[in-house]
Amino acid sequence: MTSEVKTDPAQGPVSVQSCEEGYRNPTEVKMSQIVLPCHANHRGELSVGQLLKWMDSTACLSAERHAGCSCITASVDDIHFEHTIGVGKVVNIIAKVNRAFTSSMEVGILVNCEDLYTDKQWRVCHAFATFVARRTEAGKVQLKQVIPHTQTEQMEYSLAAERRRMRLIHAEIITDLLSSSTAQLGECQEYQDAVPAERTRVESVELVLPPHANHQVSTFGGQIMAWMENVATIAASRLCNAHSTLRSIDMFHFRGPSHIGDRLVLKAIVNNAFKHSMEVGVCAEAYQGGEPTRHINSAFMTFEVLDSDRKPRTLPRIRPEPVDGKRRYQEAIARKKIRLDRKYIISCKQTEVPLSVPWDISNQMYLSYNNVSALKLMDARSNWVLASEKHKVRLYTLEENHMLCFKVEMNVSIPAEQTFHLLSDLRRRKEWDLHYDECEVIIEADDEDTLYRVATPCIRKGDKGKDFILLASRRKPCDARDPYLIALRSVTLPTHPPTEDYTRGEVLCAGFTILEESSCVSKITYYNQATPGVLPYISTDIAGLSSGFSSSFSACSDFLEANKDSESALPLQSL
Ligand code: COA
Ligand code: ADP
Repeated sequence: MTSEVKTDPAQGPVSVQSCEEGYRNPTEVKMSQIVLPCHANHRGELSVGQLLKWMDSTACLSAERHAGCSCITASVDDIHFEHTIGVGKVVNIIAKVNRAFTSSMEVGILVNCEDLYTDKQWRVCHAFATFVARRTEAGKVQLKQVIPHTQTEQMEYSLAAERRRMRLIHAEIITDLLSSSTAQLGECQEYQDAVPAERTRVESVELVLPPHANHQVSTFGGQIMAWMENVATIAASRLCNAHSTLRSIDMFHFRGPSHIGDRLVLKAIVNNAFKHSMEVGVCAEAYQGGEPTRHINSAFMTFEVLDSDRKPRTLPRIRPEPVDGKRRYQEAIARKKIRLDRKYIISCKQTEVPLSVPWDISNQMYLSYNNVSALKLMDARSNWVLASEKHKVRLYTLEENHMLCFKVEMNVSIPAEQTFHLLSDLRRRKEWDLHYDECEVIIEADDEDTLYRVATPCIRKGDKGKDFILLASRRKPCDARDPYLIALRSVTLPTHPPTEDYTRGEVLCAGFTILEESSCVSKITYYNQATPGVLPYISTDIAGLSSGFSSSFSACSDFLEANKDSESALPLQSL
């Protein structure tokens, strides 16, 4: 089954149905629950804490189905709640393992709400959690691989590797961004009628009992999340003495385990209130007897207060407490920007992201995720149509949603890693591609992401040449099922505005995937989602009037052959 989601254009994906008879993902687990008054708050809406417990249990059972052993929640990515759920509605949760790494797995969790009386369904949220197989006496567990069977599964499998990369550097990146952006923010502003943050402070203790834990006596991650949500809701509602609605939870990590008998101390306070939303921070610590307290988790949640028309109310300002309160107030402003970047850049469909997004250090991680995932999505497509073939170089096209994509494919007798190293340095592309006149590095953002300015020649006499500001994101494979990948997309940089001498061109999504066919043969595929600026370079080839693609790729093959033993073709460690 591809877990095909029926889409209502107004609502997003709404239901999950089998589309390949007889196939069901072996890790898929479903849970359906009727929302009863005991699951709801006084407004008759399902408490998010209860929902988090159901999501965590469904996902954990899916992870354990794959792992064949007991698993624990390591982290949960950002969750955005699109709707509240009323008493009497049915909550349908589907979880499946997208990919297993060494001892950890990414589990995708889809939550829909169903009205039994009208047969309507709508999406509540889509989340990704990481579960880790519990260590045994022999040490870390080595999980079996997930084998994707459908195009959707292939896509999720591929994207899971990029999401993992982002997850593992998340804490570090956020710390760096907070210290750089709060330094720029300066002093907190004083407002006369502001609510003292102290008024929103909550501290609550919970004793972990057997129903809160699994058979291995570890506290369920979902239970901890539910307790955290409870104190956060109290803090948020205290700000304006009204019921508050949880909109999103930032990505977080369970730092250490908790067990039956632990006393969990949950502390929450409103860190900052913006016009229509507020950030509440929650900290969970555990202790037993006289042992020192252990930090289990810290989470940041965004709440709104809705009026009778369900529109967000304007919130009062907050007056932070001295020192830590002021720091958290500033950090909440910085996190708000990061959150917006992340939500906007990551969750947008490729067709919705503007062609050129401004690049800066605070959105670098999300832009490179967007860059790599767009190429992976193109690579996972199976409906390419062969347009032309010459000298074993194949040109394919794909038309979808009024967009034309093309790909060029060929095999070369050069190992994949060497091919990857030679194609990774865009400055060398002019050695084989006539469309590259000049190429300079603008910024080496990190080991795997570089910003270039590329200039291309004019196509017609009298026209100007084009130039592009490109983000190139290079990725090595996580396992043998992944290709090497070089993703390219346009960005804007204030230091490199368009000039009079060139027309600024834009690339939405392009790049190479390099798959190891054997130890000395690799398949190179070049992809491009044709924008009006790129189309003139390829339209005659697609129409079958010329075969420039074949000459370019033959030149590429010659370039790789001539340089395969050079130092730049070899990974650093082998030099
Ligand atoms: N997000 C996702 N995965 C993470 C992660 C994060 N923030 N931090 C670590 N991991 C993954 C690692 O990538 C690794 O995966 P791999 O084996 O597939 O490569 C796996 O966790 C284990 O990492 P390792 O380095 O061996 O251990 P660690 O010391 O980093 O511990 C946990 C990671 C999750 C096991 C540890 O933090 C823990 O026990 N947390 C509490 C989990 C728990 O009890 N949850 C229930 C609620 S309390
Ligand atoms: P930080 O202070 O860097 O934000 P912590 O992990 O210490 O990180 O805390 C996470 C959040 O939990 C804080 O931002 C704050 O909102 C809340 N918090 C922490 N300590 C307390 C406390 N003593 N009382 C109320 N809330 C707290």
